[in-house]
Amino acid sequence: MNRLIVVSNRLPFALDSTGEDLWTVTPATGGLVSAIEPVLRERGGTWIGWPGIAGKIPQEPLAKATRNAGYKVVPVALSETERDEFYYGYSNEVIWPLFHDLQNFCNFEPAYWQTYKEVNNRYADAIARCAQPDDFIWVHDYHLMYVAEALRERGVSPDLSRLTFFLHIPFPPYDIFSKLPQQQRLLRALLQFDLVGFQTRRDVRNFIQCVRRVMSEAKVLSRRELQLIRFEDHEIRVGYFPIGIDFDSFEKSARSDSVEQRAQRLRATFPGCQLILGSDRLDYSKGIPERLRAFRTALERYPELSGRVVLIQIVVPSRVEIPRYHEFKQRIDRLVGDINGRFSTSTWLPVQYHFRCLDREDLLAHYRGCDIAFVTPLKDGMNLVAKEYCACRIDNDGVLILSQFAGAAEQLKPGALLVNPYDIEEMADTILKAFRMSQVERSGRMKRMRHVVRKENVFWWVDSFLRAGLQIGTRPPRVSKRRLATSAR
Ligand code: G6P
Repeated sequence: MNRLIVVSNRLPFALDSTGEDLWTVTPATGGLVSAIEPVLRERGGTWIGWPGIAGKIPQEPLAKATRNAGYKVVPVALSETERDEFYYGYSNEVIWPLFHDLQNFCNFEPAYWQTYKEVNNRYADAIARCAQPDDFIWVHDYHLMYVAEALRERGVSPDLSRLTFFLHIPFPPYDIFSKLPQQQRLLRALLQFDLVGFQTRRDVRNFIQCVRRVMSEAKVLSRRELQLIRFEDHEIRVGYFPIGIDFDSFEKSARSDSVEQRAQRLRATFPGCQLILGSDRLDYSKGIPERLRAFRTALERYPELSGRVVLIQIVVPSRVEIPRYHEFKQRIDRLVGDINGRFSTSTWLPVQYHFRCLDREDLLAHYRGCDIAFVTPLKDGMNLVAKEYCACRIDNDGVLILSQFAGAAEQLKPGALLVNPYDIEEMADTILKAFRMSQVERSGRMKRMRHVVRKENVFWWVDSFLRAGLQIGTRPPRVSKRRLATSAR
């Protein structure tokens, strides 16, 4: 078995300073970390990434955080400027909004690109230091799209045989991608990997369309499962690999007595009510205001819901230093205040709003205890909350209302109620439909979804990606431009 080296912007935990030499270690949030962590824990390997603080990395808290990980951790340090221009800047003010089709939210500041390349070079150095020829190098997500190019520029790549990449977020259609000032440089960089994986068919289609339009020298050869692109002197495989969750672990924890008791307590807090759950990182791509507006419309239109539904909205703080995220939080606060102000009675508060991260047991108790999961991102690579909800419904009950623009919709459409997250009225009507749905229908739908989530779990995802990667033959040594320049002198 080849050694696995995972490279991502984040490590699975974040260090934070609470004063002189006082550190906290918190689990990192988001789909990437929650999917990769169980895989590395099971298989072992190395994880290269950033521990979430700018400046020097304190050794002792790092050692403490990684002691029982079950895999090796290689930290990458970022200075404050790099954090601001690479992480907040190019990654989260350019690529993130653009790739979620929210081009008006982009800040195309030219300086960001330079820093993005510099930090990708740093990651490439870290890979070069620890990789051996037969290692399987798996780079993740939009922060690190330049890493293969950086490795090849440095002439360190000829020894590395498998350089693969997976994008966790959507890839946009050409009309949107073409707004990116670095469109050609970015595609060229992605074409330096040997395998590029996406979440869904839609993303592969968009990527291929962009390659065809932007990179005239690239030749796309269609294949049944994996597409093949010939570019310069090599071939790149492109495919979709929908990410999954560690189904068994969620199911097992959901069955535990403590989760069961917490779920019962939750239900007992709202007697006679159906509970609707929203759980998201604070992010404008998650469609939280639209969801709140839909809930408000449902309460306005359908008096039968009054006093009989509660929306529990969990918002996990994220990227709060970016002004748009901050404004977005204020918008949510105002909407929650408006709904509760207008509809609450002395015994009923329609929206329960938590702006914090719940611990795992508490989150699982919410999955078990809520009758409806309301997952309505404007666009999402996959959305693992939808899958986690199904895994925890060990009673085969519960309704999933799911955005048609979440990657998960491709797999869960046989059981979910799909909605357009921009259509407030349709979402309001779907709340009523979910509220009225018979037990028999709920159970039939949930069984279908649980079947898919169980089968296409995170280990299936890793295996299919690794299998595709292992099909790649070892690359013939390639002389980098820099080496050519040196030897010509
Ligand atoms: C998404 C991205 C991940 C990212 C996560 C949390 O799931 O795909 O790469 O780690 O959000 O965001 P953050 O900015 O806190 O890393």
